[in-house]
Amino acid sequence: MVREREETIGGRRVRWLDAGPESGRVLVWLHAFPLSAAMWLPQLEAPPPGWRLIAPDLAGFGGTADHDGAPHIDDFADDLDRLLAHLDAPPIVLGGLSMGGYAAFAMMRRHPARVRALILADTRSAADSPEARANRARLLSVVRESGPAGVADQMLPTLVGETTRRERPEVVARVRALIEANAAAGIARGIERLRDRPDSTPLLSDIAIPALVVSGAEDAITRPDDARALAAALPRGTVAIVPAAGHLSNLEHPRAFDAAVGGWLSEV
Ligand code: MLT
Repeated sequence: MVREREETIGGRRVRWLDAGPESGRVLVWLHAFPLSAAMWLPQLEAPPPGWRLIAPDLAGFGGTADHDGAPHIDDFADDLDRLLAHLDAPPIVLGGLSMGGYAAFAMMRRHPARVRALILADTRSAADSPEARANRARLLSVVRESGPAGVADQMLPTLVGETTRRERPEVVARVRALIEANAAAGIARGIERLRDRPDSTPLLSDIAIPALVVSGAEDAITRPDDARALAAALPRGTVAIVPAAGHLSNLEHPRAFDAAVGGWLSEV
């Protein structure tokens, strides 16, 4: 059973999804841009035995209010730190997909004692290139002019893989609905957080905890070779490639994603 939680923490409304035994070992899933915690429902509906799964809506997405000041990727890490303190959680396994991975790196910079193992899915350590920053400027115009629906039109062709587009239109429709449920203002501030995030590459050689790097075989945004390179740069990194999935590997092929994560979790 997935529990929906909403509370005021640090003076702001925070919403998260929670599944599995409340006293279990804790695995936190951080979502991609521009989605919400609900992208983790396939995982939350089937938690690995003995594990509590927590998936927060990141600031400005879903039901979590945004910060007042200038947006920064570190906001996501500080929010997670406050949520874990609120829940009195033991050190966690932290999983993040794409933007969620950028937030996981922020967590490793700011609150590393909270994390005992890492899952980095369909993500990268590098900051935006000049070309990527130019694309962010274009996407900011799209969200201002056409709202979340325009962002969905623009992003869907690369967010999901070829097999999903061909064989699982219901997954594509679900991703569109998740994007369109967000507020334009939250998406715009999310773009600024992505655009201005620091390079986390210098951090990698110091991440001494176990780390699983996952990639959809058809991911066109962060490619399987990027995942292999990321795993090689992590002292205790291993890699898993999810077949027949694109960038949203957990949603596109949940059983293969869960099998990769479950096998690794049993050893950390
Ligand atoms: C995501 O899926 O979170 C985005 O693709 C991240 C990005 O655009 O850098």
